Amino acid sequence: MAIVAPSILSADFGHLAADIQQVLSLGADWIHVDVMDGRFVPNLTIGPVVTAAVREAAGEATVDVHLMIVEPERYVADFREAGADVLTVHAEATTHLHRSVQQIRGLGARVGVSLNPHTPLSVLDYVLDELDLVLIMTVDPGFGGQALIEAMFPKIAALRAELDRRGLSTQIEVDGGVKPDNAHRFVEAGAHVLVSGSGIFKAEDRATAIRSLKDA
Ligand code: DX5
Ligand code: ZN
Repeated sequence: MAIVAPSILSADFGHLAADIQQVLSLGADWIHVDVMDGRFVPNLTIGPVVTAAVREAAGEATVDVHLMIVEPERYVADFREAGADVLTVHAEATTHLHRSVQQIRGLGARVGVSLNPHTPLSVLDYVLDELDLVLIMTVDPGFGGQALIEAMFPKIAALRAELDRRGLSTQIEVDGGVKPDNAHRFVEAGAHVLVSGSGIFKAEDRATAIRSLKDA
């Protein structure tokens, strides 16, 4: 079964705790927090203060923090302090990716690295063995509700093949345009953590949406 990680970017921020508790009660696994700085991506969202409130609302569930910010090394400790379990940085946003990975590991969090759609997998060649998770962006990051980029399916499959070749159990997470009706395509390509924002929070029936994603 897939791990389902609702992105709260599409939740109702006036009732954030209630929305988080609802999706968890309906079977969602992780809570995905999209942090944007207005520089790495053209949007501003959530900081450590709101992340701490998410942590509180999420109870025992994994809080999965996706940092779409430049120089993430300046802020990872703050997000860890706020309660992040998984800290994912973008390879494009840090000059010293290896050092950022070590820094997150040193904070006791699980380490993820994300790649924009145009970024080749080869940037991970020399750090892949150190990661708990690779987040393949299936849209250009910055906004919820965008259409997935088809060219990402062979990329996911190539990462799956490389992890298998190395004998690694690193998780493959996908983010952007993941919906109940296309989720099976991501799983078939080799992903097992499915981020979905509008596909869950804007669904007519959130229970059915989460169930379909889990069974994808
Ligand atoms: C986009 C974010 C995503 C976003 C996904 O930059 O990283 O997590 O919320 O939204 P949907 O599922 O609506 O494409
Ligand atoms: Zn995200």
